[in-house]
Amino acid sequence: MGSAQSSSTHKVNEKRSIGKEKYANFDWDNLGFSLTPTDYMYIMKSNKDGNFSKGSLTPYGTFEISPAAAVLNYGQGLFEGLKAYRKEDGRIQLFRVEENANRMKMGAERLLMPSPSVEEFVNAVKQTVLANKRWVPPYGKGSLYIRPLLMGSGGVLGIGPAPECTFLIFTSPIGIWYKDGSKPKSLLIEDGLSRAAPGGTGGVKSITNYAPVFEAVNEAKAKGFTDVLFLDAATGKYIEEVSSCNVFIVKGNIISTPGIQGTILPGITRKSVIELALDFGYQVEERSIPVEDVIEADEVFCTGTAVGISPVSSITYKNKRAKYKTGAKSVSQKLCETLTGIQSGCIKDTKGWTVLVE
Ligand SMILES: Cc1ncc(COP(=O)(O)O)c(C=O)c1O
Repeated sequence: MGSAQSSSTHKVNEKRSIGKEKYANFDWDNLGFSLTPTDYMYIMKSNKDGNFSKGSLTPYGTFEISPAAAVLNYGQGLFEGLKAYRKEDGRIQLFRVEENANRMKMGAERLLMPSPSVEEFVNAVKQTVLANKRWVPPYGKGSLYIRPLLMGSGGVLGIGPAPECTFLIFTSPIGIWYKDGSKPKSLLIEDGLSRAAPGGTGGVKSITNYAPVFEAVNEAKAKGFTDVLFLDAATGKYIEEVSSCNVFIVKGNIISTPGIQGTILPGITRKSVIELALDFGYQVEERSIPVEDVIEADEVFCTGTAVGISPVSSITYKNKRAKYKTGAKSVSQKLCETLTGIQSGCIKDTKGWTVLVE
């Protein structure tokens, strides 16, 4: 997701009147990736038994939290990311929302937090989207990014889980990542700093996985790269993932991606791409991928909710740059067209991946 908003933007939006119009008064043709606050957020709190009370919608804005909250002191927090898409007929749909609910549950178990049930999660997402529906961009202009958070909001002094957790959802409209679907990434393989270690939290969407990669990503960007491809922390020989997306390599008819072994995030786009690739007749391998295989690949691409399916034009490792096929006839382009077609409703969803928000 894009950069943080300025506090002045926030104030402007707080004053914004909430009308009944179909679309917010916004320049949809110039929608970017920075935070655009919308009208409402959703909040729900757990009680001492770990059950959540009935949640509610409240105007988007700041909220109070204990200075001793476990999320602030010990990083007891998770986030999710998914999108609501406007179909050509004006209706709104979500993509694989239950998968996000399940991933949050898995993360909550790892961080000793109660989590909303799948039903509570899906209902909360739907309510939040409906309350902010004038911010779901017109068909073809982008999507409404939905950010569910789960945090240890209760105060603790000694290291330990919070006595109370807060589930919160906010949203922001975002543009189409690359309007022509093909602006490729140039990646730098990072062999100094690790993202996730075996036994750590790399396999869940813990907030603590992200700030530690800022340094490597900023340094790579300063050198002109788009992002960093991290290696496994144990041996430094195998590729794992990019700072906020999964990675695939293509060699002939075989598409490979690192297996899920606790150090990479089980991406929902990754899972969908594997299924689509099998449907197209490719052989798909989930395995440990040594750097040498990446260097020799025909194609490399990244997958994630924010980036969609994003081709990689080059990867640099120890000052050597490998280049890859991108563009109209690439495998990633074919997969991208199908995935975005299903997400936006212009390709029939035969897999039950989408759900209308009504
Ligand atoms: C570290 C990391 N890997 C992969 C992904 C892709 O996951 P998904 O396809 O579910 O968005 C994300 C984004 O959520 C991420 O933060």
